[in-house]
Amino acid sequence: MLLQLATWQEVDAYLERSRGVIIPIGSTEQHGPLGLVGTDAICPEVIARGVAERIDALVAPTLSLGMAQHHLGFSGSISLRPSTLMAVVRDVVQSLARHGFERCYFLNGHGGNIATLSAAFSEIYADSSYTRDGGNRAGVRCKLSNWYMAPAPAVKKLTASLFGNAEGSHATPSEISLTYFAYPDAVKSAPQSPRIAPSGPIYDADDYRRRFPDGRIGADSSLASIEAGEKLYEAAVSDIARDYQEFVDA
Ligand code: NI
Repeated sequence: MLLQLATWQEVDAYLERSRGVIIPIGSTEQHGPLGLVGTDAICPEVIARGVAERIDALVAPTLSLGMAQHHLGFSGSISLRPSTLMAVVRDVVQSLARHGFERCYFLNGHGGNIATLSAAFSEIYADSSYTRDGGNRAGVRCKLSNWYMAPAPAVKKLTASLFGNAEGSHATPSEISLTYFAYPDAVKSAPQSPRIAPSGPIYDADDYRRRFPDGRIGADSSLASIEAGEKLYEAAVSDIARDYQEFVDA
């Protein structure tokens, strides 16, 4: 069930059956010459919807803006600073907690969100811990799940067999394949050179643009295909459905 297509009475009825919610979270940032700016938000969103078609799960609106300051050297990238993203996540969880949601499963599509999300979860738990009587809805648990990593063993295996060391870490053929599968009309064709992009550390936006001139890191995005995207979609939906169910039942 998609939260945005439900009535509040339907949400109440869902809460009689389950206390879990999936919150897709991504980023709006450049993904090289072949990847969509929305890649990191599109991937967790389509997987979450696939999960909701398979099991009884409620999917919240996608948080499409993430912590992407290092991509600001490229047109179209939009970033929240870590402190802003933490405030957003905290407000979202506490809004849902007020209605009785106790298991918030953040399905993440962007590596740059990981540290900030973990810190936001600690703030949420601290709100509860510092309140002697647990007035802040003690019992809310948050989980961070990166669709492209653990807990998706089938996805990792598939990525390794499809792309090997051309997967890289940004504008990867796997994430781009998934967006091409979801939006076949948006498949891009453009030259990219070198075939495999350079790798290196991430600092600020100007430094990033110097190190990684076309935006990719370590990846050969030209290997992306709709066919690979369909395989990754199937693998991710089954992995995430199982992982979400375990989290909600625990
Ligand atoms: Ni990405």
